[in-house]
Amino acid sequence: MMHPVKRTLVTTALPYANGPVHLGHLAGVYLPADIYVRYKRLKGEDIIHIGGSDEHGVPITITAEKEGISPQDVVDRYHRMNLDAFGKCGISFDYYGRTSSPGHHETAKEFFLEIEKKGIFLRKTEKQFFDVEAGRFLSDRYVTGTCPICGNTEANGDQCEQCGTHLSPTELLNPKSKLSNATPELRETMHWYFPLGKFQEALEAYVASHEHDWRPNVVNYTRTWLKQGLNDRAITRDLSWGIQVPLDDPEALGKVLYVWFDAVLGYISFTRQWAEAAGNASLWKAYWQDPSSRIVHFIGKDNVVFHTLMFPAILMAWNEGRQSGVYNLADNVPASEFMNFEGRKFSKSRNYAVYLGEFLEKFPADTLRYSIAMNYPENKDTDFSWQDFQNRTNGELADTLGNFIKRSVDFTNSRFEGKVPHACSDEEWNTLGIDWHETLEKLDRAFEEFHFREAASLGMDIARAANRFLTESEPWKVIKTDRAAAAKTMALSLNLCHALALALYPVIPETAGRIRSMLGLGGSIEERVAGGVSLFSGLLSPQLELGHRLREQSEILFTKIEDADIEPELKKIEHLLAETERREAGAAAERLTIKPEISFDDFQKVDLRAATVLSAEKVKKAGKLLKLQLKVGPETRQVLAGVAEHYTPEEMVGKQVVLVANLAERTIRGEISQGMILAMEGQEGRLFLLEPSGSEINGKQIQ
Ligand code: 2FM
Ligand code: ZN
Repeated sequence: MMHPVKRTLVTTALPYANGPVHLGHLAGVYLPADIYVRYKRLKGEDIIHIGGSDEHGVPITITAEKEGISPQDVVDRYHRMNLDAFGKCGISFDYYGRTSSPGHHETAKEFFLEIEKKGIFLRKTEKQFFDVEAGRFLSDRYVTGTCPICGNTEANGDQCEQCGTHLSPTELLNPKSKLSNATPELRETMHWYFPLGKFQEALEAYVASHEHDWRPNVVNYTRTWLKQGLNDRAITRDLSWGIQVPLDDPEALGKVLYVWFDAVLGYISFTRQWAEAAGNASLWKAYWQDPSSRIVHFIGKDNVVFHTLMFPAILMAWNEGRQSGVYNLADNVPASEFMNFEGRKFSKSRNYAVYLGEFLEKFPADTLRYSIAMNYPENKDTDFSWQDFQNRTNGELADTLGNFIKRSVDFTNSRFEGKVPHACSDEEWNTLGIDWHETLEKLDRAFEEFHFREAASLGMDIARAANRFLTESEPWKVIKTDRAAAAKTMALSLNLCHALALALYPVIPETAGRIRSMLGLGGSIEERVAGGVSLFSGLLSPQLELGHRLREQSEILFTKIEDADIEPELKKIEHLLAETERREAGAAAERLTIKPEISFDDFQKVDLRAATVLSAEKVKKAGKLLKLQLKVGPETRQVLAGVAEHYTPEEMVGKQVVLVANLAERTIRGEISQGMILAMEGQEGRLFLLEPSGSEINGKQIQ
């Protein structure tokens, strides 16, 4: 919202300390947040950027078990690694915390206890897999088995990676414990549930109040959830790594808070820790509880509902009935789409990624920041390619921006004793072909409304105009006959250098500092704005005075990237893609492996029938499933089939299909499935139904 605010709190999704952050993370969350924060600082506004590591959750314990180290060792390693990479990339956190810190445990427990005290949580007993050998309940990720939808034998308890279906562990066929490979047994266990449905109306009103200022994708995605109706969500798990349920109750033993319940509260703990470190322990409240403050969560699209529904509901639960200590809800949640890498999704498990730390060992941070800002996945997925990175660095940063700055400084140094040789007037400033008022307004709006690609482009447009001005003015020729005219050109050019440092500072802060230093300006931008001064309006008039002294030595701001520099990277991708193809071919071959022999009698046991689809409809919250009513002779059968991505319900109606008619009944997503229909996978994962032809075949046996 474009209203004057006292202060802003920016948070960035806490990356799991279970691996290094890659360029996709940077593009979606950390760079846009940093650009926004730096822009606000440049305007002298009060803003803090709070982030940190998400250090709980099952993938961390699985990594620890695989490597034979403790979960703490895992998170120590990646917390350090990511903090270091962010630092090198110029991501300017005011505080970067850790959810394993005692301070965070305290905050999360405080929230749990308060909501428990208010009687808002529910306790529900459910059946969950238990590994008898390991003596442990198995959370979703610790169970593997065969996907009931596509037959993948290595589906996880929460999702099948092959067909993408979200599963619960009890839906897996032939479930196995990842700990011992034993078949787990179902045992009863009690968990605390957060009644999200109870907040349905309040959340609907909250989202409605932001339907014009949140990104359409964020509103739509959140509304899809709201339309389906919000359910109770378990917020505890049977695990040892995490924040223990803080109750002196035998039922709480061995239970920890669900990682998402604790992670979002990290934003609050870390603001508290920031305030303590700043020597004003209660300052955090100004950012969370003063109604005139604003909170902005930068996240990726996969985290939307946690930030637009779950976290707001937790805060509403806390706020319920309070007169003071009431928390503000987020004012905006600029969730990004994804940035792909050379046409494919980043994938940590396939190692198909460029990690931030590794990248910055080879190329300067600002080249990456600029290139990613120009590919910011604001409302659709974008792509990072080495070729684009090389083109932008060479053509835009080196040839346009860097070249202009160097030419301006060098010529002034060699021909005007390194001093600004003319006092530029506002009138002259406005003859450059740049409408400064309009540019400033556009820049302001672009930054303010999170259009970072546009903001970076506007900055580069100024550089292009500046380059043109200098080239067309030809001061190196003009000086021979009209020194005053050349002096005016150079003074305007130097002022343009200064304006470029300001306009591009949020995107390429290190370069902006180097430009200022070449211009002989003391003190960093950060120091200059510390007292709440706005530098941004400095674009409106020339800022360098007659006689101001430049630094004697200029420097090359950007070194061009040669083909040879990116060749190893392209080779690496080729290699990775070849490996992926080999693996996929291997997996396909594996799928071709013929199952163990069966007797004719065994085969005869399978009763296949021709059936006709009477009706078909989508299944709530199961994007892959269609619920079919089939006519099989005199009977009607209900069957759930994982074909929703390949056939619309309308296409299904009237089809003749092959039904496995004597398969034991199963319950999937709370719906009964009485058999299954046969389909096969064709090219590119497309499913094809087996459709027997012939007339009057309904109900007949297939043999
Ligand atoms: O998706 C993730 O990587 C999560 N670790 C993000 C957590 S964001 C917040 F809630 F802390
Ligand atoms: Zn599957």
